[in-house]
Amino acid sequence: DRPDPCILVLFGATGDLAQRKLFPALFELARSGLLPEEFALVAFSRSAQDDNAFRAQVKEGLQKFARTQPLDEPTWERFASRMECISGNYDDPAAFQRLRERLDTVGKRYNTQGNQLYYLATPASTFPPLLKGLAGAGLLPREEQPGQRPWRRLVIEKPFGRDLETAKELNRNLASVLDERQIFRIDHYLGKETVQNILVFRFANLIFEPLWNRNYVDHVEITATEALGMEGGRGHFYDETGVIRDMVQNHLLQVLALCAMEPPTSFGAEDIRDEKNKVFRALRSVEGEEVASHVVAGQYKGYREEQGVAKDSRTPTYVAMKMNVDNWRWQGVPFYLRAGKKLAKRLTEVSIHFKAVPISLFSTGEACQRLQPNVLRLRIQPQEGIALSFESKVPGEDVSIAGVTMDFGYAESFAKPVPEAYERLLLDCMRGNATLFARKDSVEQAWAYVTPILRALESGQGGPIHEYAPGSTGPDAAAQLLAKDGRRWTVIK
Ligand code: BG6
Repeated sequence: DRPDPCILVLFGATGDLAQRKLFPALFELARSGLLPEEFALVAFSRSAQDDNAFRAQVKEGLQKFARTQPLDEPTWERFASRMECISGNYDDPAAFQRLRERLDTVGKRYNTQGNQLYYLATPASTFPPLLKGLAGAGLLPREEQPGQRPWRRLVIEKPFGRDLETAKELNRNLASVLDERQIFRIDHYLGKETVQNILVFRFANLIFEPLWNRNYVDHVEITATEALGMEGGRGHFYDETGVIRDMVQNHLLQVLALCAMEPPTSFGAEDIRDEKNKVFRALRSVEGEEVASHVVAGQYKGYREEQGVAKDSRTPTYVAMKMNVDNWRWQGVPFYLRAGKKLAKRLTEVSIHFKAVPISLFSTGEACQRLQPNVLRLRIQPQEGIALSFESKVPGEDVSIAGVTMDFGYAESFAKPVPEAYERLLLDCMRGNATLFARKDSVEQAWAYVTPILRALESGQGGPIHEYAPGSTGPDAAAQLLAKDGRRWTVIK
């Protein structure tokens, strides 16, 4: 369905996120006819810019980053004609009054019926003044009833705080202005098709779910390795963030929750988010010296020479962790996570490692030595798909056994390209569907889990920061984490 008519009010419109992700996603939605007929975009910028200069800048970005090239000119003409820019300071109440007047005019011109979506694609430090400015100008009234019209919604980008305390402070600040239903916290992993497919795979098929528990699963691995380092001038931001805040607290814990959660009572936002939250609450906390035996942190060689990075930085760019979900379904099944920058390859996947068969009937020859337990790999990216490995008889007169794979690939099975996460997420904010967004309580639960780990690593109590070579698979110590449990990481290839 096309969403309601609305104005998207964008803060941070000249930033990297807007150029790389937001405008390309909006443009693709426009091209596919998915934006509302009555749509307009108003960018609020700190630097003075007229509408034409702003449009030219957006077009330049689209020529680099739009999904479909060359740009479709008729779509661009239409898109550009509904885009305006207004400038002002974030702490100037008069600027928000001017914004209000402009939104009234734009709303009337395009008949957007009073619906407004505020998107803060800006650093977290700008959230308090922006909220104050918007609320002060009466632009963000609290929603009293679900489904109220016209609607006002707010989209914010991570990081949602730096630790549990600051996350709670941000949530209190948001709650002082808005109802939770109006707040859309973006975690772009949740918008990825392959991540959305985790629940469909689990709950639209009968045969996997009966095996999806401690009786049959030996362990679960979640991997998110990146080949990129600090490109795009991110050194300074990253050095204050590190891999745990950047990837684990949000993206990877969300993926873990989708894999570990119980079936929800419905596919509605609250039911799904309630179940995910139960998983977060069941995470076994690790703190102090225990961190050293559960977490391996690393930093790539040369990281300290990157622009914006402190010369004596201890910020981890890699982490491997062992996690436990203390509930009925997962007791005794470790979840191993690893994520990092400047590694051999870009790969995000979840692999479910099943237990070994109870007894091998194939006890002759060397074949019996090689019986490998089944592994189900959910390939999030790239080469999106799902693969199940199993043992098979090698054709021939004796019983020789080899591992083979049943493989589903999006590219081979579906004619259409996989949409970008932001396309789906922007559409969902306009539709008011919060299923794929992080809720206040789960953000806090996730911080409650990672904050003691961060503290222990930052104080040195949680073990050393291991150096690893760029282009490698990470520090050797990560292998030890599994080796002491008699396991090995899936080889990244
Ligand atoms: C972002 C992180 O949230 O996710 C980046 O800030 C990371 O550091 C990116 O590179 C990974 O996203 P994707 O979609 O490329 O896996």
